[in-house]
Amino acid sequence: MFVRRIAVIGTGYVGLTTGACLASLGHDVICADVDADKVARLTRGEVDILEPGLADLVAEGIAAGRLTFVLGAASAVRHEPEVMFLCVPTPMGVGGVADLSIVESVIEEVRELLPADCVVVNKSTVPVGTADRTEELLDRADVAVVSNPEFLREGSAVYDFLNPDRIVVGGSKQDAAERVAALYAKLGAPTVLTDAPSAELVKYAANCFLAMKLSYVNAVAELCDRLGANITDVTEGMGYDKRIGQAFLQPGPGWGGSCLPKDTSAMLQLADAADFEFRLIRATIETNTRQRQRMVEKVRLAVTGKRNGSLSRRRLALFGLTFKAGTDDLRDSPALAVAALLRQAGADLVGYDPALRQDTQHPDLSSVTVSDDPYQAAKDAEAVIVLTEWPEFRSLDWQRLAESVRNPIVVDTRNLLDPAVARRAGFEWIGLGKPLPAPTA
Ligand SMILES: NC(=O)c1ccc[n+]([C@@H]2O[C@H](COP(=O)([O-])OP(=O)(O)OC[C@H]3O[C@@H](n4cnc5c(N)ncnc54)[C@H](O)[C@@H]3O)[C@@H](O)[C@H]2O)c1
Repeated sequence: MFVRRIAVIGTGYVGLTTGACLASLGHDVICADVDADKVARLTRGEVDILEPGLADLVAEGIAAGRLTFVLGAASAVRHEPEVMFLCVPTPMGVGGVADLSIVESVIEEVRELLPADCVVVNKSTVPVGTADRTEELLDRADVAVVSNPEFLREGSAVYDFLNPDRIVVGGSKQDAAERVAALYAKLGAPTVLTDAPSAELVKYAANCFLAMKLSYVNAVAELCDRLGANITDVTEGMGYDKRIGQAFLQPGPGWGGSCLPKDTSAMLQLADAADFEFRLIRATIETNTRQRQRMVEKVRLAVTGKRNGSLSRRRLALFGLTFKAGTDDLRDSPALAVAALLRQAGADLVGYDPALRQDTQHPDLSSVTVSDDPYQAAKDAEAVIVLTEWPEFRSLDWQRLAESVRNPIVVDTRNLLDPAVARRAGFEWIGLGKPLPAPTA
């Protein structure tokens, strides 16, 4: 195997995982970030995101001398990398388009410093045409640009990086694309070598498909509610079909996180710009917006007994605030979106999340008082609302919770709990797409 000198720009979920994993595969990796405190912490081996196995890989990389951290892309490029990965944010910009200003500012920063024959690899999620635009901005015939989208999931980032379902690499220069694909050769994953526009589109097409699957299953769950069918049995029956599969068939309070909302919007804008009305994606997003509102209506009915009852000053306990279980990421969390709507309706919210502490700071947490203790959070609540699918919620002492709430009602927007356990503890359990239990004689 060739050992490559690699620079990774951005040390977030994607960049740090990429850097640490490539170092574990034997490459020499230098990671850069603009956040000086973060660079100092990482240099000491301190990882401040919740990702299983990542801290160990970072420590191993540092100890082996294969992983270092520097401030700023320019400093990383002075080490003459053969390959430079861009792993910087591409947030939702004005009108829903992907905001490429950070990608472009990094290109501007390194343009004249990149060594000859370096390959610039875009791992950030970027619209079709970004590789071409990057080539234009670079204006360096001796530097190639390659698209290599990342598919890791937060919460299992290291595992996903080292066990990918596929590697996608696209670029106009075949040898550069092959050089990038070779970095992953040890992983033995199927590799799609293509042109840059196709590689760029794979990422959006995949994420939009996943969002569409979730919106679809949420709509089917709503139909189950209306028709008295059981969504768990319906999705199990669907999922055995290999063409469908069991993954992404769990209903919930709506999809969110740092990727799906911005990527569906960006895809819609991409289609609009190509004069194509992508109705499926528009409907996917609208269904999701409605799903969050629907969760509020479920809570309203459960707590007040009326479709138009008031939630004003009603104390509600929210279990789970992160965008999914297994991560501490709050960006675009559906739990926080539902919390904001409940707060707008006047409810008083106390939240508990295994990944957060009472003093966790986040702008979207302003509507929720965070507690370190689930029993404290539930004290005097008029309902417990399960919003994130943390498995540990199943093993809470639901009897004890029933004793501390004001009303023993649990609205389980993830169908996470065993309804029988909740009911035995004295709770009225309300899920999504679940028929009400038959009345007992
Ligand atoms: N998070 C995911 O699950 C995931 C999965 C696949 C793809 N992606 C894509 O990867 C990209 C990065 O996402 P992320 O979640 O890792 O973001 P992140 O916010 O976790 O990390 C981005 C990092 O880049 C740093 N940064 C910002 N500007 C910089 C600059 N000019 N120079 C150097 N560093 C800079 C930030 O300080 C931060 O540490 C996005 O395009 C995202 O859509 C994310």
